[in-house]
Amino acid sequence: MSGAGVVSTGSTDGMGSTARRHLPDAPFLAAARRERPSRRPVWFMRQAGRSLPEYREVRQGTGMLEACLTPDLACEITLQPVRRYGVDAAILFSDIVVPLKAAGVGVDIVAGTGPVVEHPVRTAADVAALPRLEPDGAAPVAEAVRLLIGELGETPLIGFAGAPFTLASYLVEGGPSRNHERTKALMHAEPDTWHALCSALADMTLGFLRAQIAAGVDAVQLFDSWAGALSERDYRELVMPHSARVLRGLADAGVPRIHFGVGTGELLGAMGEAGADVVGVDWRVPLDVAAARVGPGRALQGNLDPALLFAGHDVVEREVRRILAEGSAAEGHVFNLGHGVLPETDPDVLARVVDVVHAVP
Ligand code: CP3
Repeated sequence: MSGAGVVSTGSTDGMGSTARRHLPDAPFLAAARRERPSRRPVWFMRQAGRSLPEYREVRQGTGMLEACLTPDLACEITLQPVRRYGVDAAILFSDIVVPLKAAGVGVDIVAGTGPVVEHPVRTAADVAALPRLEPDGAAPVAEAVRLLIGELGETPLIGFAGAPFTLASYLVEGGPSRNHERTKALMHAEPDTWHALCSALADMTLGFLRAQIAAGVDAVQLFDSWAGALSERDYRELVMPHSARVLRGLADAGVPRIHFGVGTGELLGAMGEAGADVVGVDWRVPLDVAAARVGPGRALQGNLDPALLFAGHDVVEREVRRILAEGSAAEGHVFNLGHGVLPETDPDVLARVVDVVHAVP
């Protein structure tokens, strides 16, 4: 597709890099840059996935990580919510553990549980033995991005990765954890080992995001989903330097950087300082309050409680309008949920949310 604003799609420079698309009219990118978008942009975290019947259909017989590493399937799943909802951005169908898997770490995604790690990483020797992500490892993901750039027209594509702390939590705990007790024990009892682990994960994340940017993504989101489990003091001392190295390492890439976590009301200022252009906010903090905490020079993304999508149309519409009003306090606002779409969500409810967001001037 060669829409008016697209300077180049799919052409490579001989080094595997795709020329960056120029999408001056994309509302999502304008809001992320704190410019004036033609309408309030909206997309949904986890829009590509289990709440869609067409997703369940194409995933049949294919494991989650296998699907992520199969370019044409990842491309199709990424496009599904764009076709259905007319959202203002696509998010690459992938997972935060994909670079670990691609590097050779024994990790799988167990349905109903989440990522499970075969050999948890708990000692200095475990950290030293952690494999690196070779450039080839990201090749299937880069290929999916290139396919998508050819299909998406004027819709921006968001690439993403897990932040060092959230990835470390899965590696240290061996799977999902409510209290992150082994992770916190390692952070405090063996800070050198902790920093070595986060440093290796920051390298991996940076390499993985650079590969996505080289292939053509228009923005990136760093998911530090579980950072809200930390005090601000621990976050600033033990986690933020590693996330900041990832985000600052992308400063010259020319794409907006979104930084998101859940339960991070106390960390919003720090998450902005880490080097984000857009700070993601969950539903616990109203966006006007979040704007004051994050301070000038950054846009916000959020923050409808995904559970409220089950409360009926009147409640949903009232909440969407409240969030749009509160979001006006920010220098830029990208409408989203406060966390991912829940699997049982009725897709028609999300379609109506998009319509309401787009209808409000
Ligand atoms: O947003 C999107 O639509 C893009 C796809 C996406 C997935 N995972 C696909 C997926 C994204 C952005 C992620 C990120 C991710 N993965 C995060 C950060 C975002 C967040 O929710 O906080 C985290 C913590 C993970 C780890 C992970 N992977 C979990 C907790 C789960 C759910 C496990 C379960 O079954 O309840 C997964 C699996 C997963 N990732 C699914 C999808 C569509 C479901 C697996 C399936 O369809 O079989």
